[in-house]
Amino acid sequence: MKPLADSFFGILNHFRLIEERVPVDTFLDEIAEGRKKSFYDSKGKIHPDSHHIFLRGVVINNRNKDFFIGDILENVQYLNYLYFPKITEWMKNFSIRHRGSLGRVYISFLKPHGHVVRHADRGIYYAAKDRYHLVIKSRGTEVFLGSQSSTFQEGEVWWISNKVPHEIFNNYDEERVHLVFDLLPGSFFRRIRNIILWVYFTMGRRLKFSGLRLDRSQIIGLKSL
Ligand SMILES: [Fe+2]
Repeated sequence: MKPLADSFFGILNHFRLIEERVPVDTFLDEIAEGRKKSFYDSKGKIHPDSHHIFLRGVVINNRNKDFFIGDILENVQYLNYLYFPKITEWMKNFSIRHRGSLGRVYISFLKPHGHVVRHADRGIYYAAKDRYHLVIKSRGTEVFLGSQSSTFQEGEVWWISNKVPHEIFNNYDEERVHLVFDLLPGSFFRRIRNIILWVYFTMGRRLKFSGLRLDRSQIIGLKSL
């Protein structure tokens, strides 16, 4: 009964603290070095105050150039992935511990006093997946999901229901760094739980936005990595 209980109880909670005291200090050197070599996505309406370094994401080619990124299911590893070996090793172990398979992964840099505009992550890609945030560098990230709010601290891993409209604030003078990643849960019940939330919050309310546009020339050909 445990997986069923774990999957459905708390369906109305949009947050859950999953792990604490992740040794994120050991990731900082890698972030400083890796961000010099990595390519970033462009800024968009949703994320004007952020930069993202995608480690895994969609392939954009001539067949899906008129794409809505939320509806692309396939994900591949980018060159960027290779620049962050400690972080990706931790993430791989996390996905094994939590019996999930990796979807998209990015490192999110939110500038001092920056803000992520209220939005929901829409598209079929998100339907069954769980989204996690690992707080790598922050004095406390204020996150609003629906009518609920929480403050994420360094070294914590949070599950969030990103199908619910959400908004994020960095209220401090320092840049904030999170690792954001999706796992397709191994548990059938968790998938069903996520799909129920997805249907409830997103059906018929598709939002097209330019927040996650990547430079095509940097992505084609990376599939074989
Ligand atoms: Fe989002």
